[in-house]
Amino acid sequence: MLDKLNNFAQNQPKVLVKTFGCQMNVNDSEYIIGQLEQLGYSRTRDIFKSDLILLNTCCVRENVEQKIYSLISKIKKIKENNPSLILGICGCMAQKEKENIFKRAPYVDLIFSPSQINNLKEIINITKYRNKKYISSKNPTEFILKHTPISRESKVSAWIQIMRGCNNYCSYCVVPYTRGPEQSRGVSEILAEAENLAQENYKEIFLLGQNVNSYGKNLPESVTFSKLLTLLNNINGIERIRFMTSHPKDLNFNLIKVIKNSDKICEHIHLPIQSGSNKILKIMNRGYDINQYKSIIQEIRNKINNISITTDILVGFPGETEEDFQQTLNIFKEIEFDNTYTFIYSNRENTIASLMPNQVPLQVKKERLSRLNNLQKEISIKINKKLEDKILEVLVDKKSLKKISNQLSGRTRTNKTVVFVGEEELIGQLVKVKILKSDTWTLYGELVR
Ligand code: SAH
Ligand code: SF4
Ligand code: F3S
Repeated sequence: MLDKLNNFAQNQPKVLVKTFGCQMNVNDSEYIIGQLEQLGYSRTRDIFKSDLILLNTCCVRENVEQKIYSLISKIKKIKENNPSLILGICGCMAQKEKENIFKRAPYVDLIFSPSQINNLKEIINITKYRNKKYISSKNPTEFILKHTPISRESKVSAWIQIMRGCNNYCSYCVVPYTRGPEQSRGVSEILAEAENLAQENYKEIFLLGQNVNSYGKNLPESVTFSKLLTLLNNINGIERIRFMTSHPKDLNFNLIKVIKNSDKICEHIHLPIQSGSNKILKIMNRGYDINQYKSIIQEIRNKINNISITTDILVGFPGETEEDFQQTLNIFKEIEFDNTYTFIYSNRENTIASLMPNQVPLQVKKERLSRLNNLQKEISIKINKKLEDKILEVLVDKKSLKKISNQLSGRTRTNKTVVFVGEEELIGQLVKVKILKSDTWTLYGELVR
């Protein structure tokens, strides 16, 4: 019997899915893998043992795109030794670059866009059995996930896409072109997914969208993001609700009340600021100024005790002077974010910012990034230090990646990673941990029985 099973496993075609980019792409890959498993594929991490390699790509910054192109050319050599290997490119870069990819790498077998991830069976069959190349012609207009098989990475926390696409057209960003216009999923579909997850023992749901605060705008039913959160808060079994990304221009104060009054919504908000300079925010087309941003932060902090606040920031946007950058440093000192995702501005073809004069030299951008990161490190260390000796509720996610045995890793309600010693059976449970030590990104503690 065991031999038979082993033979079966050996004969199963193997797929390697490599994911780049944001959580939405990570969740898309879970749908991709779910469908491939139904088609008989099993997963491998070994590029040389793969029958199918799918790169689920991102193109928000140029360096990621270059990394992907160089991986594609490495796979060329592997394909030469294994002609039946199928190489597929999907995700945002596949949408933006489809013609270029085939020009630069004609040995790629299939390319499909993010809106086609529910249709893999047909796409794979065309390539595999009819021996044809496949290039998607679809624009990103559809958003159908209902009934699509999924293979989730975590058994504790599950992503739920509540909306896709973006209508904001920040002047530097490719996402509206790769993911298309904003589209929300219906409330009943989202509630059904969350209820299923609760039945499967998931403890946390993480709602995803490029701009969750405008959830519901294109739906026939009258619903807002706050209303959706209130409904999800009633689902038995789900203990924690998180969401990302909030756009400051669409965040209304009612949402803050809902977070405060709903026991399951975690005390963490990710609110990208992008720059500390009003001049830069205006040419970025962000739709708010620094005073508006600060008043949201003030309201959040007034209403919700100990909430953690994280942000995204771009340095070296065209026209950013040292004075503009100083304003970014100042706002970091003033607000004291728990954590920040800092990026060097990357010039993306066909965006308005790419045509702007006064592009900032790379050396200057790098130097600004390093000053900003150094400042943020100090702030994060200071904030985390205050948590030492406190007892915090931790949802245990997994075994810790640190190489000490028996170590588990989990997250506080404020989304900080906590590492502590404990038995594997605790994975998926809410436990209390006393924090003994902290560093920039991680808290270390001991289980309180
Ligand atoms: N919808 C989210 C952001 C999605 S993209 C929001 O509006 O906040 C994630 C982050 O990538 C952005 O917040 C921004 O900081 C960064 N980013 C987007 N375009 C970029 C570019 N051209 N160069 C560098 N970073 C970029
Ligand atoms: Fe990009 Fe702006 Fe849309 Fe965010 S809101 S995805 S930064 S265009
Ligand atoms: Fe990248 Fe697309 Fe996400 S460009 S950041 S994978 S929406």
